[in-house]
Formats: sequence, C-alpha cells, structure tokens
Amino acid sequence: MDTLHFLTCGSVDDGKSTLIGRLLLESKSIFDDQLAALESESRQYGTQGLQADPALLLDGLQAEREQGITIDVAYRFFATAQRRFRVAVTPRHAQYTRNMATGASTASVAVILVDARKGLLSQTRRHSRIVAMMGIVHGVLAVNKMDLVDFDQATFDSIVADAQTLATELGFASLQAIPLSGLMGDNVMQPSLRMPWYTGPSLLDYLNTIDSGNRQSVQPFRLPVQWVNRPHLDFRGYCGQVAAGTVRRGDAVRILPSGMATRVKAVWSGFEEVPQAQAGDSVTLTLTDEVDVSRGDVLVAADAPPQVADQFEARLLWMGEHALAPGRQYQMKLACKKVTATVTALKYQEDLYTGAHLAVKVLQLNGIARVTLSTSAPLVFEPYAQNHTLGGFILIDKLSHETVGAGMIEFALRRAANIHWQALTLNKAVRAQLKHQPPRCIWFTGLSGSGKSTLANQLEQRLHLDGRHTYMLDGDNLRHGLNRDLGFSEADRVENVRRVAQVARLMVDAGLIVLVSLISPYQADRAMARSLFEPGEFVEVFVDAPLATCELRDAKGLYAKARRGELKNFTGIDSPYEPPLAPEVHLQVETLDVQECLMRLYAYIQ
Ligand code: ADX
Repeated sequence: MDTLHFLTCGSVDDGKSTLIGRLLLESKSIFDDQLAALESESRQYGTQGLQADPALLLDGLQAEREQGITIDVAYRFFATAQRRFRVAVTPRHAQYTRNMATGASTASVAVILVDARKGLLSQTRRHSRIVAMMGIVHGVLAVNKMDLVDFDQATFDSIVADAQTLATELGFASLQAIPLSGLMGDNVMQPSLRMPWYTGPSLLDYLNTIDSGNRQSVQPFRLPVQWVNRPHLDFRGYCGQVAAGTVRRGDAVRILPSGMATRVKAVWSGFEEVPQAQAGDSVTLTLTDEVDVSRGDVLVAADAPPQVADQFEARLLWMGEHALAPGRQYQMKLACKKVTATVTALKYQEDLYTGAHLAVKVLQLNGIARVTLSTSAPLVFEPYAQNHTLGGFILIDKLSHETVGAGMIEFALRRAANIHWQALTLNKAVRAQLKHQPPRCIWFTGLSGSGKSTLANQLEQRLHLDGRHTYMLDGDNLRHGLNRDLGFSEADRVENVRRVAQVARLMVDAGLIVLVSLISPYQADRAMARSLFEPGEFVEVFVDAPLATCELRDAKGLYAKARRGELKNFTGIDSPYEPPLAPEVHLQVETLDVQECLMRLYAYIQ
C-alpha cells in the first residue's frame, strides 16, 4: 500500500488542527486509549463543551496544551482501506515558515485551508507560494467553516475564483476546491447533505485517489552515502537511504564525485541480504572492488550519472533572524554532504504576495530569493524539480549552528564548468624563498580609532628595516579605489572584507608579508578571511580599545557625527563590533603603550 505525504497550511485560526483531528477520527486511526484521553481532556481544555475537540489530538505535549499552542513540526499517520497517509503538522506561531518548508519538501499534496468567512488572506497567498516553491503540484483548497456561512454556495464560488488565479500563477498542476466543516465533519469523509450544490469529492475521497507522486523508483539509481560501516576488516558496507531508482545485486554503479566504476556485490536490509532495494529504502551496499568511498559521496547508476558542479543557481528561503549577506560563508548540507558555501549574488527577491521581482542587497527572515551560490567542493546534484533529495539543501550558520536557509537547486552555472584552474610553474614557496621570508597576512581588527593603522604602519616600517618585503592594505585607503562603491551596511562590509581578503591572499601567494587594517566587525567574515590561508599564515591582531577611549580620541570627528545622528551605521554606535574570541595577538591598548604593542607584535612574528 502506498503512502501519501501531505501537509496543511493557511493562516492563523483557520482550523488546521481541527481538520486533521477530524481526519484521524473519521478514518478511525485513533487508538482507544487515545480516544479516552481525548474525551477527558476535551472537557478540561477543549473549546467544544463536552464533545471531543479534534484539535486536541494534534497538540502534542501537556504543557503546550495548557498554553493553548502547538510546538514542533511533527508527522501524524493514519490509514484508510485505500492507502496510508502521513501529514506534516506545523505549529501556528514562530518558525512557522521554516517548519512548513520542511514538511513541504517531502509532501506531494498541500491542503490549503481558508476560513469561509475571510477568504484568501495574504498569509494564505504567502504560504501557497512557499508550498509551490517546494515543488508541490497538487493543491486542495479546503474552504473551511462552511457551517459559519450557512453553507452558502456563492461565498464558496467567489473564494474559488480568487484561488484559481493564484494557482495558475504559482504553477499548480491541479487545485481541487472543497467546501467543508472540519468541526462538523461535512465533506471531510462523507459528502455533506447540507451542501447538495457541491458534487465534487470529499476531502478523504480526494486524498484516497490523488496521484501520490511516488515515482522516484523509476528514476536512475542514487544512494547518498550516510555512513561507511566497517565492523571488521572483511566487511565494508555503504549505508544510506535510496534517493531514487532501484538497485540490485550485480548492478554497475559509479561513485561520485570521483567517477570510479564498480559493481554491487550485495544489497543488505538490516542483517538480511535482499535481492533489491528501491527509493525510500534504507540499505547497506557492498561493492565488488576496493574503492574509496566516504560519507557524502553518492553511488549512482553507472550509465546515468547525475551532474557534479560547484556553482549553482537556486531559489532560497531565508529562515535566519540575521539577514543573509552575499559573500558570507555558511555551511551547506545537500543529501549527506557538507561543504562551505557562499551566496555570490542575490539576483532578486520574490515578493511573497505578488511574485514581483525586487532588487535587494540582503535577504531578511522569510524572504525568498533567486541566488547564485559557490561551494568549496564539487557537489553531486540534480535539479530540485527532478529530485528533492539531491536538489534540496539547507544552509547552516557556522557560529550558531542554526539552520538559516532552505534552498532548491535550479541548475549548475555553466561558467563553473568552463573555467579551469591554470597550473602555474612557479609557486608561493619559490617566490617566498627569493624574498627570504615566510609570507604572512597580519590582520588588524578593532574599532575605528583604536589604533589599527598606526600600529600596522609602524610594524611595516620595522619589517622594512629588516629587509622584509611588505605591503599594507588599509581600509580607509582601499575605500578610495577598489572599494569605492561600498558603504557601511552589513552587506557592504561583508563584501569589503571579502575583497580585501582575496587581495591579501594573492599578495601572500606572491610571497609578501601583508598587513591589513580593517574594522572587519563580524566574526564570520574574519573566519572567512582566515579560511583562505594556510595554517599559521594568518595572524589575527585584535587592537582592543574601549569604545569610550576611541570616542574620546575621535581623530576624524566621526564619533561626534555619529552621536549627532549625522552618520548612520557607525561601528560601536549603531552598528555592532564582534570581538575576536581567539586572536593570535590581543593588544589591550589601554594598558600598553605603542612601543610595547609593537614589541609584542614583532616578537610574535619573529
Ligand atoms: S569595515 O567595517 O568595512 O571593515 P573599514 O575598515 O573598511 O570598515 O573602514 C572603516 C573606516 O571608514 C573608519 O576608520 C572610518 O574612518 C570610516 N567610516 C566612515 N563611516 C563609517 C561607519 N559608518 N562605520 C565605521 N567606519 C566608518
């Protein structure tokens, strides 16, 4: 029996919990003990007098019930004689969008709830757009609470007309409108006698017969390797969940990204050897050859491999409290592979209500944008429309480890495939040898007026006297040329740091000792700069002066301006500075004079 995965969405108070509860009740999927508990709790917390309140079936924990809210995304299962169902239950408060996107990524039908009294609200439109973006092609427009509009056909018809326009725009293959009452049960399972004018299916009839879209098993075989199981020397198995296709003993497979070809020796399901496995099955494969396979690699049908690339165009839903800034590094997880990724361009944001394309510099919470991405290593992928497992990814904040984005790959950028790394004969080592010095990037960070440039300048003079080959990259100076187009918004600072770090890397590659003096206020961006260098090459110097001291000096008069409100986004005033947690050199300039600071720096570098 196949399983239909679906989710419900809509706006606040449109009766999602009641409707799902009703489905569970009517399909008789509730165990007797649950039913007894429900009846007693309905009396305590329900809104339906002494009758069982179906909404309470959905509200997981006791504590939540007492607060009257649902937490956590969860899946509920139920079954009819025709098929099994899995419904993603999303909470109605914070993080709603994130949870809904999670539920939608594996669902094939969305039940979009609308309160008959209210019609399509902007929230409904927003959720429908997200659901469509996540690849759901079949929608049910459940016009709920028909009992509250006297089962009026005209009310229903006008909502349907409105929704059809939206469905066409969003690209749903089908949208079935059903007038119902989750609370009373009308058209949930049994056709409603109170709406004789409606001749379509009831909700459960529809869910029983709609195409479940589980066609992944006829696609070419793909298995992202989640874990390499090596209990003893004679056994090496590759475990994971089959993302698409079927695999049998003896099949010719390839390991991507390496491209090595081999054959399947055996397919294991638990401790049992099985003749074959298909999409959705969790398996362990053994291979005929001793080949190099690690976590994150993908085993694929040898004659139909997916693509491999490191630059993509994708749609991205941002779920971070902190806005996405192009150029910043995030951890990216696609199937079982983790890499570092950067959004290289925000092409446009999609207006969630109208679909209009908006030019933006950053992407805020709940925004959807079309972006280009670049990854630190090649990824085995397929367009999301073809395969959700190999085309869907998440972005994770490197510092907080929170999931901040959900994305869908559209295609690989051709520029990635056509640009090759040119191998050069001379390298950093021989260039450095000629200069008799180890190349370094000495990165000064700190507030404006903390003394970064003064120290960097003096250190450079000292190194110069020693016969060192140096170069100074100073924030203020670079903003007259290379970075002339950048301001002080967070996005612009990210780009500022990115450019300077890349230039510094080239100079280090040329064998120089580079001194960088840049406020570089964000930890994430300094970590990105560091990641461009080899271990030991990057020396982070924290010029630590209290804000009050910098403000007192105020050599350029900028703090005074910022305090008067004439200069916006000034670091330390209305723009943050995140101090380094583990700098190589920490100079507390309040307690050290310039000479002492220099001596410490010089000593460290020697
Ligand atoms: S960073 O934040 O992007 O690293 P950067 O070091 O290039 O900044 O430039 C900082 C210099 O620009 C400061 O020393 C100051 O002279 C000047 N400046 C002008 N406006 C601002 C501002 N809003 N915030 C910080 N510095 C500013």
